[in-house]
Amino acid sequence: MRFLVLPPPRDVLQKASPPTTRAGTEGPDRENAKPPSTISRQESQSAPPRHQPAASAVLHESLGPPEDTSFRLRHLFNPAKGWFRRTERWINKFLSHHVFPRVPGIWWPYSRALERDLTVSEASIALRGLDDGLAGLRVLLISDFHAGPFLSPEALERTFERLMSLEPDLILLAGDFATVRLQEVEPTLAAYRCLVAPLGVYGVLGNHDHYTGEPASLCRMLETAGIQLLQNCSVTIERGDGRLFLAGVDDLLCGDPRLDEALKGRSDGTPSLLLSHNPDVFPEAVDRGVSLVLAGHTHGGQWRLPGLPVLVRMSRYSLDEGRFQAGRSQLVVSRGLGATGFPFRIGCPPEAVLLTLQPSQDP
Ligand SMILES: [Fe+2]
Repeated sequence: MRFLVLPPPRDVLQKASPPTTRAGTEGPDRENAKPPSTISRQESQSAPPRHQPAASAVLHESLGPPEDTSFRLRHLFNPAKGWFRRTERWINKFLSHHVFPRVPGIWWPYSRALERDLTVSEASIALRGLDDGLAGLRVLLISDFHAGPFLSPEALERTFERLMSLEPDLILLAGDFATVRLQEVEPTLAAYRCLVAPLGVYGVLGNHDHYTGEPASLCRMLETAGIQLLQNCSVTIERGDGRLFLAGVDDLLCGDPRLDEALKGRSDGTPSLLLSHNPDVFPEAVDRGVSLVLAGHTHGGQWRLPGLPVLVRMSRYSLDEGRFQAGRSQLVVSRGLGATGFPFRIGCPPEAVLLTLQPSQDP
């Protein structure tokens, strides 16, 4: 079910969600902060300021129940390395490097569309072995920002401020911070500093981040904005007596994904989350018993016609958007916030996903 709520005027939005920084701990927000939680990697962050609820400022929809998937490969069109994919990638890089940055005002249409159409998709996810201490954990999944010619840093910052009104406990960023250049990301760092959560902000790189040719520099840059990159590594999230294993894997297409290394150190009975830019890691994650995979990359197709399937599929297993299930593992794929190729979306608005984790009643 989808219900629409008109966003309040911009000046109201700004009053409802004042920009904050990770270090900011003063004023009335500090009084509203939750008790600090622990993160096993122990770069402990002080409890962040909590924003005044202003959830009516975005459109909300339900993700609905998970769809069973059998991982049937698409043989006619391989989005990983087929001729179409190679051609699309070359054209995208060429336009983003040499054409779009020279078009005056090209950032305006998509920046405005993002603020107008931003949708929060919500779901409650039951995880086996989740301790009561983590029941009700609110996980905000955001993906595919694509800093660059189509998106103004100010629009991204305002978007993040609105999302912070959802009061997530944990924020996961599923990659594609850049479009093609490292320099695109630098002006957006102030926006990322708006993202604060008691249990931390974690990210992985996407294929476009590797297009920059400087993934290590990009990781360092993002870390200055308070994002902990999980490139083939993991942390354990703790709240009360509850523990949650959180791993991240590098991009499947252009990175150096090492899933077994990322999942090293899991203990039996502890639910596991895997953050991956590309949803096509899901079959391997199912084989390894990962509880929940969180991904982006597909943009939901970016251009959709009513009633028809996705026109441009980025998943080899047709994991285009929404929830999926295989065996005891689940997958959530976000349409993401940004756009590539052309500065618009049709029929699939920009999306952030808010998940509420609950203990499963199944044995
Ligand atoms: Fe993307």
